[in-house]
Amino acid sequence: MIGVCYYPEQWPEQLWPEDLARMRALGISLVRIGEFAWSRLEPEPGRWDFGWLERVLDQCAAAGLQVVLGTPTATPPQWLVEAHPEILPVDRAGRTRGFGSRRHYDFASEVYLEECARAVSALAERFGQHPAVVGWQIDNEFGCHDTARSYSPAAREGFQAWLAERYGEVSNLNRAWGNSFWSQEYPRFSSVGLPNLTVTEANPAHWLDFYRYASQQVERFARRQLAILRRLSPGRWVTHNFMGMFTDFDHYAVARDLDLAAWDSYPLGFADLLPLPEEERRRWERSGHPDLVAFHHDLYRGVGQGRFLVMEQQPGPVNWAPHNPSPAPGVVRLWTMEALAHGAEAVCYFRWRQAPFAQEQMHSGLLRPDGSPDQGFSEVARVARELPAIRGAHRRRAPVALLFDYQADWVFRIQPQGVEQSYFELAFAFYCAARQLGLDLDILPPDGDLHGYSLVLIPSLPVFPQALARALAASGVAALIGPRSGSKTAEFQIPQGLPPGPLAELLPLRVLRAESLRPRAEVLRSGAQLARVTWREQVESELEPMDRFGDGWGALYRAGAAWYLPFSPDPAWLTTFLAERCAELGLPARPLGPALRTRRLGQLTFAFNYGAEPCAAPAPAGAHFLIGEPELGPYDLCAWE
Ligand code: GAL
Repeated sequence: MIGVCYYPEQWPEQLWPEDLARMRALGISLVRIGEFAWSRLEPEPGRWDFGWLERVLDQCAAAGLQVVLGTPTATPPQWLVEAHPEILPVDRAGRTRGFGSRRHYDFASEVYLEECARAVSALAERFGQHPAVVGWQIDNEFGCHDTARSYSPAAREGFQAWLAERYGEVSNLNRAWGNSFWSQEYPRFSSVGLPNLTVTEANPAHWLDFYRYASQQVERFARRQLAILRRLSPGRWVTHNFMGMFTDFDHYAVARDLDLAAWDSYPLGFADLLPLPEEERRRWERSGHPDLVAFHHDLYRGVGQGRFLVMEQQPGPVNWAPHNPSPAPGVVRLWTMEALAHGAEAVCYFRWRQAPFAQEQMHSGLLRPDGSPDQGFSEVARVARELPAIRGAHRRRAPVALLFDYQADWVFRIQPQGVEQSYFELAFAFYCAARQLGLDLDILPPDGDLHGYSLVLIPSLPVFPQALARALAASGVAALIGPRSGSKTAEFQIPQGLPPGPLAELLPLRVLRAESLRPRAEVLRSGAQLARVTWREQVESELEPMDRFGDGWGALYRAGAAWYLPFSPDPAWLTTFLAERCAELGLPARPLGPALRTRRLGQLTFAFNYGAEPCAAPAPAGAHFLIGEPELGPYDLCAWE
């Protein structure tokens, strides 16, 4: 399906019928409505005005449009904030964040949780069985604008209770955190503060527990609404729209009981935020990085346990990145098809018509503010014509699994030990290497089912689960495991017997020391070139390293089918290394070049050209083309079986 985000509350009612008819004519069948409309739904405490929404939903039903209704809890109305200022979030500097934009609430606030339950119940009671409503979106972009963690009195109290539950006795907490260091011992749980306003860095174990606590508040918030929707709106799916490049809570845990995951895809905004060399950044400024959006499709399919959709698709320039260029002609179509090729059940564009007022007036829509069609509109029309050709193709398991872990990201952020160290970039480097070889990937949590994969990529897992080490050893599946894996216990300590902790069962080695470096090129003894090394570990092992750095430090260790990489690898080196491993495993893989990418969906293979130069799709002779042809124009795509 293709869909669109629509804000009837922002337009005169006379426009609605025409808008809905134009959507239908364009081939749109799903409309998201309502996620910021609290002040229009409940203009005064307890006075509900559902009439307008009912009229919109009735018109949608009549037009044959299906609706995903948003719960409006990302935008508590002014009267609510005035009555309960304690629901406002507090930032890391200890300042209360105010009314006048959005997401001005604290996940730890019981008062706000109750208010949300009240609002969601009223909404779901009234519209839970409306024929137009096929699904729900809970809230909007949890954590956006740095709101996953609040440093409020409510959070402090909640954190103390959470710690008491986790540790039982405060002496256990003191031991786990190592509080004999710097006289940090606490006499009781109620004396533990939040880790934000310390003189110098707070104890990393303190931070990690606070991140875990905050993540569980997001979970609790989502679950509360989910339970209401399940009860009052049976037979409808429930999702949440997650963000790109965002890791402040455990998305697997938050999505566990949802029917599917959704995410908001803004390829040009993200490309502008990626720390790429200037030349690379320019290269992708109008198409987005060829792997970054695909990475998120694979990630959110994993988060949604096999099911996902794109709830917001960039249709033209956005308003929020450091720079906001126009997509190149054809790119909106390219993005849409890339999502569908990854198994997205729907792609919804954000937004129908550009708003001439308020914060996002410089954000494009499918229509300009005056209602005339913008660039995205004509590309969506083309997508709608092409859609029937690929309908019915269903995703299969990919040959390669990549394990992505939110806690791993928190450990890197809390204790980077070098300014360049980023878990996200490390994971992305592994992903890019595989995708540049034309391999399809599934992204899974560290406890994901690895059965049936030929190769498992583990960019890093600082807190390495023993069960995973054992499962890898027992299955004998090929695994590439990156630096810092097994370097911490769950309590943020160095494991007894040194890193890699439990991973030593699979790879018998000991990491004696780790160093972070200014980015530098290195040549391994085999002659292999590393463009950029920022991290190295000194390993002691009975295993003879498969390669060494110039100064003799081991660079690659292998035990059976498992490899350990005790340094930060760059994507170019990883691509070569991975190609060698694929050759050993008999996995078909070949470099596609900088701008060409492929993806299989059932019996179909798609090829995408993210570049401004034409190129040829790697289709076999005799391939039957359902979309396009083997010669790809700039920003073009094709699909064959
Ligand atoms: C998303 C958000 C939308 C809109 C959009 C603009 O983060 O969910 O409401 O603000 O960005 O790109």
